Order: sequence, then C-alpha cells, then structure tokens
Amino acid sequence: MKILILPGDGIGSEIVGQAVRVLEKFKSEGVPITLSHGHLGGAAYDAHGHPYPEATQQLARDADAILLGCVGGPNYDTLPRALRPEQGLLGIRKDLKLFANLRPAMLFPELVASSSLKPEIVSGLDIMIIRELTGDIYFGQPRGRRTNAAGEDEGFDTMHYARSEIERIARVGFEAAMKRGKKLCSVDKANVLDTSILWREVVTEMGKHYPEVQLSHMYVDNAAMQLIRAPKQFDVIVTGNIFGDILSDEASMLAGSIGMLPSASLDANNKGMYEPIHGSAPDIAGMDKANPLATILSLSMMMRYTFGRDDLAARIDAAVRSVLASGKRTGDIADINCQLVGTKAMGDAVVSAI
Ligand code: IPM
Ligand code: MG
Repeated sequence: MKILILPGDGIGSEIVGQAVRVLEKFKSEGVPITLSHGHLGGAAYDAHGHPYPEATQQLARDADAILLGCVGGPNYDTLPRALRPEQGLLGIRKDLKLFANLRPAMLFPELVASSSLKPEIVSGLDIMIIRELTGDIYFGQPRGRRTNAAGEDEGFDTMHYARSEIERIARVGFEAAMKRGKKLCSVDKANVLDTSILWREVVTEMGKHYPEVQLSHMYVDNAAMQLIRAPKQFDVIVTGNIFGDILSDEASMLAGSIGMLPSASLDANNKGMYEPIHGSAPDIAGMDKANPLATILSLSMMMRYTFGRDDLAARIDAAVRSVLASGKRTGDIADINCQLVGTKAMGDAVVSAI
C-alpha cells in the first residue's frame, strides 16, 4: 500500500497527523504500508510556488492512494486564480482522473443530538452522494472575464457534460445502489439547463441495464429541500460536480457536523484520493480543536475502496463508534454530557480503540 500523505493547509496537518497514527498502528501489525509525503494547496505554493507542483504530481502518480487534509486559507485569497490553493485540489482531481466522488452522509446514533434536524427526521440516516468530480462548470471552457457588448465587465463560465462522462458516473451510481438499498436518485436541473436534459436522458437509458434499481429524477432545488424535509427517502444520489458540491455540504449537517464526513475520489481503477469534505478552518488551525474523525473515516474508505481491506475499514469504523459511545467529543460535535477533547486526544482515543 503506497500511500501519499498531503496534509494541505490550515488544520490539515493536525487532522492528517491523527490519521497517520492509525496507519502506523496497522503498519506495526505487519500491514504493508509505505508512506510518502508531499505538499498541496497553499503549502505547495509556499514551498514550490505552485498549488500542485511537479514534485507532488510525481508522488501522486506513484502512489496507490492519497490521503489529503484540506486546502485554502486567507493568506492565499489575493493570489491569481491559477495559483490559489483550490486550483491545486482541482488540478490533482483532474490530473489523476478522479471522476467519481463518493460522499456518504450517515448519522452515528451517538450524534443524533448534534444534527440540526429533529431526531425522528435524521436517526438512522445513511445516504451516499455520488458527485461527478472532473467535469461540469468547474472545468468547462471557455471561461474568464471580458468586456461585453455594452462595455461592462463580465465574468463567464461554461457548463457541459459529454455523454461518456455522464455514463461513467451514472454507472458508479447504479453499482453503488445495487450494493445498498437499490434506489438511485439522479439530481439535475433539466427544467432549465441543456446539460441537464442530456444528463437525464443518459441516466434514464443506463437505468435499463439496472432493472433492479428504482431510479428517480429530481431537480436540484427540490433535492435541496427534500434533504431537509425527509432525508431518509434517499439511498444513493448521483449528480454533477457543482450540484454535488452544494448538496454534500447540506447533507453534512444532517450527520451532525461537517467534521464527521469522509470522502473518496476514485478513478476508473479504484485508485483514489481520500479526504474529509470540510475545509481548512483557518480560524482554529494550530489550536488542537479540529475534529480528526472525518479524516480517520476517510482512511476507512481507502482501506475499503482502493485496497479491498474491509477488515481494516471495519476496525476503523468500530473504533470511531466506540470513541463516540464513550462520550468523547471535539467542539463541533459537543453536547452537554460529553467529555470535550482536542484533536490529539481524539486521535489517542481512536488509536487505542483500534
Ligand atoms: C469540496 C470543496 C472544493 C470543491 C473546493 C475547495 C475547491 O468545496 O471538495 O467540496 O468545490 O470541490
Ligand atoms: Mg465543497
């Protein structure tokens, strides 16, 4: 298992540090893990003058899997767009063809009180959001700034999806549904966007190959509402890059905290980059306050999806469950009866539970 560690910016090194301890624990048991380390985002800009430098590209291509912390920070806000930390993240996703982004939103029973919704609406929640990650308006050309016919400054971006891009992400959606509750909801904006009209056609055609999957379609605005109204109606959601970006943040609140949600970004061969879905939280960076559980749970996804080690994944999941059951909480998931702990103490607890 050649694993590249990219802590990134802000709280990245703190949360990734705790996940690395889990890997070291496995390694000490004889699991064949080799770690390499690199920079991405603002940290890479500081070290190499680019958010996804050549050195990181090499390391990324050599690795079987990548564990990423998070990128971004106020120091980099005034850089030109091409040099901003976010471009490092988008660059590595595109370079490695990590088109399938899996973002589970599941609520640990111990965290029911941390969700912003009533317990009866969210308890037992277990949704998988599958977001296309290398296309859409995020990467569409042309884009840029120009002066329009009226002489006014304008910004523009292009949304597009090719049939093959829709087919391959839809396939991931259908396959995931087959392994879960056999329900797939495709989210689009086909009442307005041409891109979405094609999206819906292609997903519908693909559905014919998966007669056991109950396929539905939903407009993204309605999906945003339904996620809050009755989130348990969903099993697997498949959607494009920008809609998935937005809906997965929304869904994270159902799960108690964005600090709990892992993600996997996979290529066609299950090589993957694994990262928490939250950002770099510069306001609490270096303060030992960040929740490392989303990062640790991202490792669990890595063991499952890239390495086929469901046994190791299950041990990570069980350890996280038992730590939550013991009442330990970082600030983002704290409740009145809990034992408030910092990033490192949370890592200690998980490692010893493993
Ligand atoms: C995410 C993030 C990124 C995205 C940003 C940091 C570029 O919000 O992973 O969801 O928009 O994809
Ligand atoms: Mg996002």
